[in-house]
Amino acid sequence: MELRVNGQTCLIQPLRNATLLMEALRGPLGLTGTHQGCDTAQCGACTVLLNGRAVKSCNVLAVQAEGAEVQTIEGMAAPGEWHALQLAFSRHHALQCGFCTPGMLMRASAMKAEGVPPEPDAVRRALAGNICRCTGYEGIVAAICEWLEGGDAGL
Ligand code: FES
Ligand code: FES
Repeated sequence: MELRVNGQTCLIQPLRNATLLMEALRGPLGLTGTHQGCDTAQCGACTVLLNGRAVKSCNVLAVQAEGAEVQTIEGMAAPGEWHALQLAFSRHHALQCGFCTPGMLMRASAMKAEGVPPEPDAVRRALAGNICRCTGYEGIVAAICEWLEGGDAGL
């Protein structure tokens, strides 16, 4: 099977016919920044971008991603650099244990293209599929609002 992940073409041997995208990323490709939480499309920890759209990779078969551009947290910024959204999370102390963070960042990174306004209520609605057990969401929402307010900077 051939997948395009973070701008690179990757050949992988699927674990089985119904290999999930999450399993392909974490297993053969070693991209363990995509976290495995609930396995039932509820927590959002496994969120990645599929052709720019945020999807839960535990709810997508690897074969469904063939021919698409997949982006994981490892491809969010160039090696040694930080994406503006990651810097905003740092400024607003938007993480504690960090388990939800890759999924939160991936989900948030699709919000500009979706036209989500930089308003807490709108961001909270857009984040409804991503669960954080630690932070109470305040810092996460503030960081995303700040990034959305930045217009095209740090896309
Ligand atoms: S592991 Fe995919 S949504 Fe929880
Ligand atoms: S920072 Fe721990 S689950 Fe969100």
